[in-house]
Amino acid sequence: MDLFLTICTFICVIFASVYIYLSWNFEYWRKRNVKGPRPKLIFGNVPSLLKHNRHMALDMQEIYEKYKNSGERFVGIFMTRNPQILVIDPKLSREIMVTNFKSFRDNEPQLWANRRVEEISTRNPFLSLTTEWKEKRTDVVGGLSANRLKSALPIIMEACSKMTDFVRNETVESRSVIDIKSICYNYTLEVVADFIWGLNAGAFQSKKPANQMLDMSRSLLENSFKAVGFYYASGLAPFIRNFSYVRFFPEQTEKFFKQIQMDALELRLKSKTDRPDFLNYLLQLREKKNVSHLDMVGHSLTVLLDGFETSGALVYHALYYLAGNQNAQNKLRQEIMENLDENRGVSYDVLMELPYLDQCVNETIRLISPIPVFSRRCSEQTFLENSANSKVQIDPGMILHIPIYAIHHDPEIYPNPKEFNPERFNEGLAKDLGQRGCFLPFGDGPRICAGMRLGQLESKAGIFEIIRNFKLTLRKGDNKLEHVDPNAFIIGLAGDLLVEFECIK
Ligand code: HEM
Repeated sequence: MDLFLTICTFICVIFASVYIYLSWNFEYWRKRNVKGPRPKLIFGNVPSLLKHNRHMALDMQEIYEKYKNSGERFVGIFMTRNPQILVIDPKLSREIMVTNFKSFRDNEPQLWANRRVEEISTRNPFLSLTTEWKEKRTDVVGGLSANRLKSALPIIMEACSKMTDFVRNETVESRSVIDIKSICYNYTLEVVADFIWGLNAGAFQSKKPANQMLDMSRSLLENSFKAVGFYYASGLAPFIRNFSYVRFFPEQTEKFFKQIQMDALELRLKSKTDRPDFLNYLLQLREKKNVSHLDMVGHSLTVLLDGFETSGALVYHALYYLAGNQNAQNKLRQEIMENLDENRGVSYDVLMELPYLDQCVNETIRLISPIPVFSRRCSEQTFLENSANSKVQIDPGMILHIPIYAIHHDPEIYPNPKEFNPERFNEGLAKDLGQRGCFLPFGDGPRICAGMRLGQLESKAGIFEIIRNFKLTLRKGDNKLEHVDPNAFIIGLAGDLLVEFECIK
C-alpha cells in the first residue's frame, strides 16, 4: 500500500510539475493589462503550429478579426507557452517596421537555424544575426540592381520561352490541361539557375533521369520548412535546441550547391565571358572586398531559395485567379498585345510599368502573400502605445507578429476580400494602402524584401508570356480558391492546380 501511495504521489507530482511548467507564463499579459485570448495548455493560442490542421496564418487571422475593433493596437498571445505580441492595428505594423525600426531590428527567423552547424543558411539576411545582417544584405542587394536586372531580361525571357514551348508540346489539338504549380516552379528554377550561375536547370526536360537541380532545390525548401516546424514545436522546451536540431540546409544539399558554385566559377573564369548575371557580380565583389567562397555560395543560395518558391507561388496563383476570371484575363491580354514592341517582345521598363499587369500582381499577392506573417524581435527596450493612454513596456527578445494575411483579408479594408478584383488597385492605390500599413506583401522599412525587384520582374515576365500565348480556363469543379495548404511555410493553395490552356493563334 505504501509503495502504491508513493507511486501515485510521484505521478501526481510529475503531472503537477509539468502543468505548472506549461502554464507558468499564462498570467504574463494579464499582469501587464494587455488583452488577449485565453491560451490552451501546450498549444497556446496558435494550435496549428503543433496540430498542422490549418495554416498558422489562419489562427492569427481569427484572433485579429476578434480583436481588431476592441480599441487595442495589439494583443498578447501565447505561442505554445511563450508570451508574444500580435499586432492588430495596421498603422502599428509600419511603426514597428519603419519608424521605430531601431527597437525592432532583429527578426525571429534568425533563431530558426542552428549556428553551430550551419555555415551557409545563416548567411541569408533573413536568417543572419543583426550584427552581420547589414553586410550580407548589402552584398546581395548589390547584385540585384535595376541596371543588372535590365541587362538580365534576356535570361528571364529565355526561361519564359522554355515554359511556353513546354506547354505547346503538351498540347493536343490546341488544348491541354496542366498543373500550373509544377510549370511555374520549373520556370522560376530556370530563371534563378541561369541568372545566378549561367546554368540550364533542365527543369522542363523529361523527368528521367531525375533532375538533380530540381530535387536539390526542393530538398532545400522542404528541409527549411521542417526546421521551422522543429523550432516552433521546441518552443515548449527550448533547451532541446541545445542538443537536437533539424538542419535548415541538409549536408548533402549544401555539398551539391558548393560544387555547383565551384564548377560555374571555374567555367566562367576559363571562358572569360562577361554576362550580366549574379556570378559576374559575385566575381566583382570578390575583387572588391575579398568575399570568401562560403559567402559566395551563401549569397547564391539566398537568391535561389528566396527567388524560386515565392515568385513561383506568385505566378501560379496569378494564373489560377486569371483562369477563374475571364474579364480580368481579357483586359490583361489586351494591355499586353498593345504593348508588344516591333520585335514582338517587351522591354524591362514597359514590363515593370504595365498598369493592369501590376494591378493583377498586387491583387494576387494581397490574396496570397507568400510570407503571411512577419515576425520581429525587440532589440532594445521601448514602449508601445496600446488602447488610449496605455503604454506597454516591450523588453528585448519579445517577439511581435504582424499578421499580413489577416490585414490583406480584412473586409473593412478590402470589401469581399476573397474575390480576385485587380480594380482595387486602380490608380496608384497600392502606394496609399502601403503607407497605411494595409498592403505590405514585401514587408517595409530597412528589412523590406531584398529581392523585390527580381521577384516582380520574373513574376511579371512569366504571367505576361503565358497570357500572351494562351487562353486559360478552370475546368468545371476545379475551383480550389479557398483551400490553403496547412503544411507550407509559404502560404499557397493546396494540391495540384489544373488549368486548361488553349493556344492563341
Ligand atoms: C514575389 C516574390 C517575393 C515575395 C512576395 C517576397 C516577400 C518577402 C517578404 C514579405 C519578406 C520579409 C520582409 C520583412 O520581414 O519585412 C522578404 C524578405 C526577404 N526576401 Fe523576399 N520576396 C520575394 C522574392 C524574393 C527574391 C526573388 C529574393 C532574392 C534575393 C528575395 C530575398 C529576400 C531576402 C534576402 C529577404 C530578407 C530581407 C532582410 O531581412 O533584410 N525575395 N521577402
